[in-house]
Amino acid sequence: MKTVKFGIIGCGLMGREFGSAALRWCHLTDLDARPEIVAVCDANAAMSGWFRTHCPTVRQVTADYRELLRNPEVEAVYVAVPHNLHAEIYCAAIAAGKHLMGEKPFGIDQAANDAIMAAIRAHPGVVVRCSSESIFFPAVQRIGQMIESGAFGQIIQVESGFLHCSDLDPGKPINWKRMLKLNGEYGSMGDLGMHACHFPFRAGWKPKTVRAVLSKIVAERPDGKGGMAPCETWDNATLLCTADDAGGHEFPMTIKTFRIAPGHKNSWYLEVYGTRGSAKWTSKQINTVEIMSYQPGAEQAWQVLDMGHEMAFKSLTGVNFEAGFSDSILQMWAAFLYELAHGKPKSRFAGCVTPGEAAMSHALFTAALESQRHQSTVAL
Ligand SMILES: NC(=O)c1ccc[n+]([C@@H]2O[C@H](COP(=O)([O-])OP(=O)(O)OC[C@H]3O[C@@H](n4cnc5c(N)ncnc54)[C@H](O)[C@@H]3O)[C@@H](O)[C@H]2O)c1
Repeated sequence: MKTVKFGIIGCGLMGREFGSAALRWCHLTDLDARPEIVAVCDANAAMSGWFRTHCPTVRQVTADYRELLRNPEVEAVYVAVPHNLHAEIYCAAIAAGKHLMGEKPFGIDQAANDAIMAAIRAHPGVVVRCSSESIFFPAVQRIGQMIESGAFGQIIQVESGFLHCSDLDPGKPINWKRMLKLNGEYGSMGDLGMHACHFPFRAGWKPKTVRAVLSKIVAERPDGKGGMAPCETWDNATLLCTADDAGGHEFPMTIKTFRIAPGHKNSWYLEVYGTRGSAKWTSKQINTVEIMSYQPGAEQAWQVLDMGHEMAFKSLTGVNFEAGFSDSILQMWAAFLYELAHGKPKSRFAGCVTPGEAAMSHALFTAALESQRHQSTVAL
């Protein structure tokens, strides 16, 4: 069993998700690598307390990420901080020779992503991946197997999206994700878009053009100090793209990232329609995938399959039990550890987002901003 010693920079929501995944690593049954969290860093000392309480392997707690990066024991880092800090901290981690799992959007904007990509090119020995767990749900893995077997035929249309609804409440206080300087101009695209792009990009569907419709729906929110603060970032984005399938046929591909999608607490969805097969899934019915195979002249009938726990990386959970968000997080970390141990992903659809895929998402979101500005279709 290979042990990789990790540091975590940013001990908020996502830093703890990794902490929790690492603490239940024994849940995975056929992996020959494991993480050991030895160091944590958060600028707010109160945030590292969870690790002090729950993670006995942590030997270094600091408020200065540079101090953590100087720790020779740390081999790899997970950086989960607000978007304005991605470029600075990711570049410093890569320059320090630490393998990196960096949170999406992998830079607050195109320039920040360019800086991260330059750091990666300068340090080819460092393994760098971008966090997105959306591909690891069993239904999405099944749709990946359908791609591998050519079950779709010529692609007719693809739609992939990620929908939230809590911002429908105008009384929800402002937070960093609604502020330009911390979250970036991409708004919901930066926040949710990598998840919606992960599967299409891995399938090889590279956007060629985009016509974007971006919306700001709630103009201001309580600032928590008795006043109101402006919401500066895009709430909802609909990106109508063109892409080519493996046979070179162009098809429409729609990517949606909505912070204000009534009734959708946290809905991921993926729909792929082809001439020989089609598939659709939404996390609202997390355990089922709808599939249709078609032979010319035959009936067109959808099947509904219960997926259970058919994971890329085997776990203790019986195959008949349904999967959830924290399972997909554990699977994503298993995929990263597998890549660190073996130098390549276990399979095409059991791999974390690569820097190249993250850079493609920046090209798409930057083109979408231009499309919105000029109300026109933009070539990528
Ligand atoms: N993969 C996912 O499903 C998913 C879900 C939510 C958020 N995210 C991403 O994770 C990242 C963090 O989001 P979050 O929801 O965990 O945010 P969060 O606000 O819960 O946590 C961020 C933490 O970073 C700390 N921090 C800020 N500046 C720092 C610095 N200079 N040094 C060290 N720590 C610092 C904050 O104190 C905070 O504890 C973002 O990039 C976000 O887009 C990913």
